[in-house]
Amino acid sequence: MKATAIAPANIAFIKCWGKKDDVLRLPLNSSFSMNLSGAFTTTSVDFSASYKKDIVELVDGTFSQKETERTVSHLEAIRKYLGVSTFARIETKNSFPKGAGAAASASGFAALTVAAFASAGKEVSEKELTIFARRGSGSACRSIPDGFVLWKYGETSEDSYAHSVYPASHWDLRDVLVFVDTSMKKVPTTEGMENIKTSPFWQERVAGIPKKIRKTKEAFDEKNFSLLGEIIEAECVNMHAVMMTQNPPLFYWNETTMKIIQEVKEWRAAGLPVYFTIDAGPNVHLLCEAKNEHVVTEKARAISDVQLVLINSPAQGAHLL
Ligand code: PMV
Repeated sequence: MKATAIAPANIAFIKCWGKKDDVLRLPLNSSFSMNLSGAFTTTSVDFSASYKKDIVELVDGTFSQKETERTVSHLEAIRKYLGVSTFARIETKNSFPKGAGAAASASGFAALTVAAFASAGKEVSEKELTIFARRGSGSACRSIPDGFVLWKYGETSEDSYAHSVYPASHWDLRDVLVFVDTSMKKVPTTEGMENIKTSPFWQERVAGIPKKIRKTKEAFDEKNFSLLGEIIEAECVNMHAVMMTQNPPLFYWNETTMKIIQEVKEWRAAGLPVYFTIDAGPNVHLLCEAKNEHVVTEKARAISDVQLVLINSPAQGAHLL
């Protein structure tokens, strides 16, 4: 039976950098994110006795051998769990450039997980889906539940899952995603995170996360935008400071990233409430309230070297089509 699922990418306000188990992808800390309406992956899975091996296709692009292997091994884990031996054809399509630090692996593994279980005719709970998606790519678990999502730190696989903390309708925020480079990032997150403990700052970072999550929830409960903005910017810089002080050091930002950071500070000084956050790549997410979406988008488009601007509102999680 062929099943098709759609899953959003997500942007972490409080981020995951570092895993304590690289195979199960158990994180060193909890993280909190927003699902993105404009950046999503649509994936079909068709388990059928007619296939002699797994077939993986990316519409409008190609998967590297490594990406294909990672996809097939995720499917293999699901197959093992379900006790199925049939091969499948997987067809996947992204609405945005993959591999540029815009979380295509999150939306990709979330959509794949939901479609694979449905194609096999197996109903599982949302919690179980998040646990499986996490094993494909950590942050993928946050793309399954709706709206604003917490991925819980846990000692065991069963205990590290994601759940919705606020529905998408809770707060009409905008994430204006500014691409300054749409090519594949040079160091994938899995690889980059392995060296976290070579940074002299990693323990302090991990120890500070519970307080940041508490403060983020406070900002959400009060809909206090400047409080949220201050937390997410400081958190983003903290994660990148750890990356930059690892051995070998990891620099994901480029000149345009830095230029946008400076611009954001100037726009804010001039009275426009907008804050930045950046994942494992040079692209910048500009967070603002819905009423400022147009002015922030215009300003972002006017910056030279900006390649693409994607506007996102809070979105529901992965679901079947
Ligand atoms: O857990 P992964 O491998 O999908 O990597 C996510 C890493 C960051 O995007 C930098 C942070 C995050 O929590 O999304």
